[in-house]
Amino acid sequence: MAYNNIQTESKDNILYITINRPKQLNALNRETIGELSQAFKDGEANSDIQVIILTGTGEKAFVAGADIKEFANYSVEEGKSLSADGHKNLFDLVESLGTPVIAAVNGFALGGGLELAMSCHIRVASENAKMGLPEVSLGVIPGYGGTQRLAQLVGKGKAIEMVATAGMINAEDAHHWGLVNHVTFQSELLEKCQEIANAIKKNSPKAISNAIKAINAGFEEGKNGFEEEINQFGNSFGTADFKEGTSAFLEKRKPNFKGE
Ligand code: CAA
Repeated sequence: MAYNNIQTESKDNILYITINRPKQLNALNRETIGELSQAFKDGEANSDIQVIILTGTGEKAFVAGADIKEFANYSVEEGKSLSADGHKNLFDLVESLGTPVIAAVNGFALGGGLELAMSCHIRVASENAKMGLPEVSLGVIPGYGGTQRLAQLVGKGKAIEMVATAGMINAEDAHHWGLVNHVTFQSELLEKCQEIANAIKKNSPKAISNAIKAINAGFEEGKNGFEEEINQFGNSFGTADFKEGTSAFLEKRKPNFKGE
């Protein structure tokens, strides 16, 4: 499919999605959000794809936020719909995707950019990356899940400090705070993501997808993570992947999972 603002490429069962608006530091306008949404849905629907790696074009920015030019003159109603549509079409979609998503944070991840990275299941940052939620410096607040996901990842106190100061933290501090899983040289960023992806690819896609559901349930209003775990654990026993995984272990061979 042809896109205007993103590039996609599949290789070795990994889908690479690259946000490609370098002149705007890969800022997210509504069209880009729509294209990303489509690319993620297509990736999940494609059983050959076992991991998705998301990054931004260039060495300066992952994503420098929502596109400020686009929303600068929005009304209250338009602001609400921008946020609600973003949640539904992209940010919540990525978080609940059954296919694991790794954010390769290759530079600035600000505002909606950090919110997008936080929707991904795993984050790896290059050492030049800078992260922050600077929305209050524009008179607005984070609108793509940042108030919730940042607090989940780094705790309430650090989240309020980051949001209220509108400051940026570097990759080392982000690692220390638990906001990113790993920090690498820029030149090794994709390699590190591929290393994680290759470890993921050895395991049952079905079980991974169900484990993501159970983990997410613990953070969702009205859901009980422990109950979801019991359900998903039980459901595993009815899957072909479970039969294959246990048979392979007992037969002392490598499993050949089909994701079913
Ligand atoms: N939206 C639109 N355009 C953006 C942008 C954004 N979020 N961030 C950068 N750009 C554009 C700039 O306007 C500039 O375009 P022009 O050359 O046409 O002027 C181009 O990208 C390069 O940016 P700078 O010249 O500013 O580059 P810099 O190196 O001096 O600074 C920066 C880099 C610190 C990231 C700075 O660009 C910046 O502060 N960007 C805005 C960050 C921000 O506030 N993000 C939050 C957006 S609000 C949001 O995301 C709301 C939400 O939660 C839903």
